[in-house]
Amino acid sequence: MASRKLLVTSALPNANGSIHLGHLMEHIQTDIWVRFQKLRGIQCIYVCADDAHGTATMLRAEELETTPEELIKKIREEHSSDFSKFYINHDNYYSTHSDENRDLVSLFYKRLSDKGQIGNKTVEQLYDPKAELFLADRYIVGTCPKCGAEDQYGDNCEVCGATYDATDLIEPRSKISGEVPTLRKSEHLFFKLSNFTAFLKEWTASGTLNTAVSNKLNEWLRQGLKDWDISRDGPYFGFEIPGHADKFFYVWLDAPIGYIAAFENHCSEKDIDYSDFWRLGSDSEVHHFIGKDIVNFHALFWPAILKCADFRTPSKIHVHGFLTVNGEKMSKSRGTYITAKEYLALLDPDLLRYYFASKLSDSVEDIDINLDDFTSKVNSDLVGKLVNIASRCSKFIAKEFDSRLSMIPENELHSSVPQTAERIETLYESTNYASAAREIMGLADKTNRFIDEKKPWILIKDAKKRSEVHEVCSIGLDMFKIMIVFLKPIIPALVGKAEQFLVTEPLSWQDISRPLHKKEIGTFEPLLTRVDSKTVKKLIQKPSLPLEKKSSEGDKDNHDISIDHFQKVDLRVAQILSAEEVEGADKLLKIHLTMGQESRTVFSGIRSAYKPKELEGKLVVLVANLAHRKMKFGISEGMILAASHENGEIYLIEPPKLSKPGMRIS
Ligand code: MSP
Ligand code: ZN
Repeated sequence: MASRKLLVTSALPNANGSIHLGHLMEHIQTDIWVRFQKLRGIQCIYVCADDAHGTATMLRAEELETTPEELIKKIREEHSSDFSKFYINHDNYYSTHSDENRDLVSLFYKRLSDKGQIGNKTVEQLYDPKAELFLADRYIVGTCPKCGAEDQYGDNCEVCGATYDATDLIEPRSKISGEVPTLRKSEHLFFKLSNFTAFLKEWTASGTLNTAVSNKLNEWLRQGLKDWDISRDGPYFGFEIPGHADKFFYVWLDAPIGYIAAFENHCSEKDIDYSDFWRLGSDSEVHHFIGKDIVNFHALFWPAILKCADFRTPSKIHVHGFLTVNGEKMSKSRGTYITAKEYLALLDPDLLRYYFASKLSDSVEDIDINLDDFTSKVNSDLVGKLVNIASRCSKFIAKEFDSRLSMIPENELHSSVPQTAERIETLYESTNYASAAREIMGLADKTNRFIDEKKPWILIKDAKKRSEVHEVCSIGLDMFKIMIVFLKPIIPALVGKAEQFLVTEPLSWQDISRPLHKKEIGTFEPLLTRVDSKTVKKLIQKPSLPLEKKSSEGDKDNHDISIDHFQKVDLRVAQILSAEEVEGADKLLKIHLTMGQESRTVFSGIRSAYKPKELEGKLVVLVANLAHRKMKFGISEGMILAASHENGEIYLIEPPKLSKPGMRIS
């Protein structure tokens, strides 16, 4: 077999925020794979970069009163330093805002255009007349056209799960200026993705993706692909489109091309030909590691534009699920949004690497970091099982045998190692690190049992048994060496310390089958001590939290309100007097209700579920002190509560039958 040449990437972190545990999980997953390949002597190059472009970077820079260029420079330094502290060994950590990327993007665009795969269409989009820019969906908020929930983004409703176009929002506002957006036409460039449907069907079925992901893609492919809008109007921080004044490439076009640019930049320093990896028919492999949220970009758009521009397509896309903390989505207000720096201030990076490894597989299921489990896992596996072997054996070797091992005799422990090594190799290769870690801990258990059974602490009392003690402890330490080779991709720093203790050059995979016959070893110093659960818990107990809470009003992660807050909500029993359809709003009903002394008119997005007639006389729950909202069709004087499901089901909440209009609900 010709020797493999691998190029590996992690998704490019956005250049407008800090590195957090979610990013780290992905980079640790990738880094373990890369270190494993390198350990076996395979040529493997790992590149990444900051994803510099887009509206978010531009706005963040404005907010900080700096330029996007200054901002991305600072953030790149910060990201790169965070990653290196977790021993993420990128061969290059570049930026998509680079000359190499600009040139490559132009080349791609030229090839795509030359092949007739770029079209244009006029699109009508919401525009912020004050900030003078077109608004991406995330920058528009308004009332959900389906359920009436306020403050929902322009693409979907977080309350009822409905997806819609930003132009469907009721009372839309720009998040940037608060201004009411206007509709404005503009010409956009499109990549004719739908022409690549047949190619993509074949590509997704060719072993490039794990089954769950390729099933999802097949679903999208069956639904039919839409052409892909690749241009954005200025002002925009990105690369200008050649020949189109004030139009820029959409960030998601230049971001994946940034993988090639980062690699090219690395190659120019190392005298490697980057095109050798990227030309059609290349025998090198390209592996991307990404999260499940960006599969469409990597498994639809990316292979299609590579194909169209005559570049090779990726060999494999490794997709992971999302990280949750103590079972919940990472959230700033709950403290479970943990940044790289916050972790580093408390704990050893190898522990996180080991914990993630013990959870990672080739599936797209979400992965939970449970803080109690974290503590017990690292203490029991790394301290209790692994380091314990070195500690108990080295004691005798140092004291009784002048720090020198015996010949390593054939023995039952070693005889199973070659098969275990093969299994572990397969598991690493397929990113099933959790199973690999279990295999390794299985070896540690066996080794500890072997020492327990031999009882060197008793044997040593018998002068005739000295050589047996010597052998038992030497076997134990040679097994320890084998385990640290296996673990080297996962916990590189800890293994570095263990190598020092064994006084050896950096170990490689081949050292598994090279016994440490008569090896002199160094003094054992505790390689790792138990972590304390109180320290681990501090990860989510942030001194700044109460403050953050105050300032994070409007933060969509902030779900917590105080009891005082809740009690401000005036919930009342109300009776519907009449209801009518609203012309021009196919989701809304105009409803008149009474609270006994007082009557109200409310617009409610329940038209899909209720006929006006059937509502008459019904008792409902009304939020009576909601600020009145001026809508296109009139003023809404409150809100009616309903239960809803993303499939569109809506059920009004009914107060008890005997209750009377006007009664307070608390
Ligand atoms: N800039 C794009 C990627 C461009 S790649 C050509 C992007 N950036 S990101 O910063 O939002 O995310 C970077 C990676 O981190 C993605 O693979 C994403 O899935 C991953 N994660 C971000 N938050 C995550 C979790 N909470 N859990 C696990 N991974 C997550 O997307
Ligand atoms: Zn909704």
